[in-house]
Amino acid sequence: MNHTPVEGFSKLSKQRKIDWLINEYLPEDRHYEQILQQYWNEDGTIQKLHDEFSENTISNFYMPYGIAPNFLIDGKLLALPMAVEESSVVAAASKAAKFWIDKGGFKTTIINTKKLGHTHFIFDVEPHKMLHFFNFKLKKKLLEATEDITKNMRNRGGGILNIRLIDKTADLENYFQLKASFDTVDSMGANFINSCLERFGKTLKEEVEKEEDFTREEKASLQIVMNILSNFTPDCIVRAEVSCKIEELKDDSGISNEEFATKFKRAVTIAEIEPYRATTHNKGIMNGVDAVVIATGNDFRATEACAHAYAARDGKYSSLTHCTIDNGIFRFWIDLPISVGVVGGLTNLHPLVKFSLALLGKPSAQELMSILAVSGLAQNFGALRSLVTTGIQKGHMKMHLFNILNQLGATEEEKNHFVTYFKDKTVTHHEVISEFNKMRAK
Ligand code: MEV
Repeated sequence: MNHTPVEGFSKLSKQRKIDWLINEYLPEDRHYEQILQQYWNEDGTIQKLHDEFSENTISNFYMPYGIAPNFLIDGKLLALPMAVEESSVVAAASKAAKFWIDKGGFKTTIINTKKLGHTHFIFDVEPHKMLHFFNFKLKKKLLEATEDITKNMRNRGGGILNIRLIDKTADLENYFQLKASFDTVDSMGANFINSCLERFGKTLKEEVEKEEDFTREEKASLQIVMNILSNFTPDCIVRAEVSCKIEELKDDSGISNEEFATKFKRAVTIAEIEPYRATTHNKGIMNGVDAVVIATGNDFRATEACAHAYAARDGKYSSLTHCTIDNGIFRFWIDLPISVGVVGGLTNLHPLVKFSLALLGKPSAQELMSILAVSGLAQNFGALRSLVTTGIQKGHMKMHLFNILNQLGATEEEKNHFVTYFKDKTVTHHEVISEFNKMRAK
């Protein structure tokens, strides 16, 4: 079926948007309108909030919001809020938390908290001339020009940390950067950084125009390409770790502590050297990180992009976690680059985000970094523990059983039957279908 473009869609009311969509794309399936309405929130204030977060909203897309309790982090016992649709993630986190609770729990260290951004520009000028101009005139002007933007942040203990001129002309003709580093304290800082950078771009243009040392041709060649923060923050790192004596590493799968430790360490080494495995290994880490990132109103696309760029920082994609066994001590840790905030953005708006932050004891941004790294490490511990012992499918399919049964339209009574049926068997899609058909045939 051919469709016609719509004019002024954003200006239509929610109901008119839905009417247009259904008429245009799903005229035979009008029940979808009811589904969209079922996901509206009856409480008008919450719905209004959601409608205003993003554009052209016609409904809400809910995610399960779960809790992984028993996380002992730097001596504090926390229950982690996790917004995630994938079965087993919350269960694996809870299991890992419980495993480490009597072994000292998780310890974290903030390594650094620097955020970065760039003004990318093209300028047909000798690099040494630009450097001289930057060092002796421009840098000071850039700082002065942003004083009104940075005032509040400076009062909170942050601001612009440094600005450097980067000569990129060897990579791209006439390409330079103003590379700035920022401390954004408790905010993620995207708006603050981008506002500073846009002012840098404007100031650069004005100051070059005024500068007598540049010729008319040089001045005419200046192009500000873009001013934007970088989501790659290799100097905004938190380390989370667990450690214990090998004798304490009791696993319930029946293998010895030594064998478990060795197999576990080898699985980490494989992720360190093999990008195919590292990708899945890190994906599992991000299961834990993102679920808490979302529950606390942060930007999971930014944390994903950063984590994977960091995992490839040496030119080869590798594991974010590491493991050693030295003198009978098993040590497992993650260095996670992550830029998050506890003020600004959704944090003061979304009622569930406010709940998550209150539940975590209103953490500072640095404390939230620690919690996120722990969640990622715990998730990875849980995944590797299953992978090197029972295999991942046992636990995963147990959780997935309900998804399959729901797809089949099983009643509560039938679901109970399946829980008993699979108590001592591994769940497989095939086995569920075949048992379901047998049961229905009876
Ligand atoms: C599934 O979402 C994540 C795992 O594949 C992670 C891993 O293999 O380490 C279980």
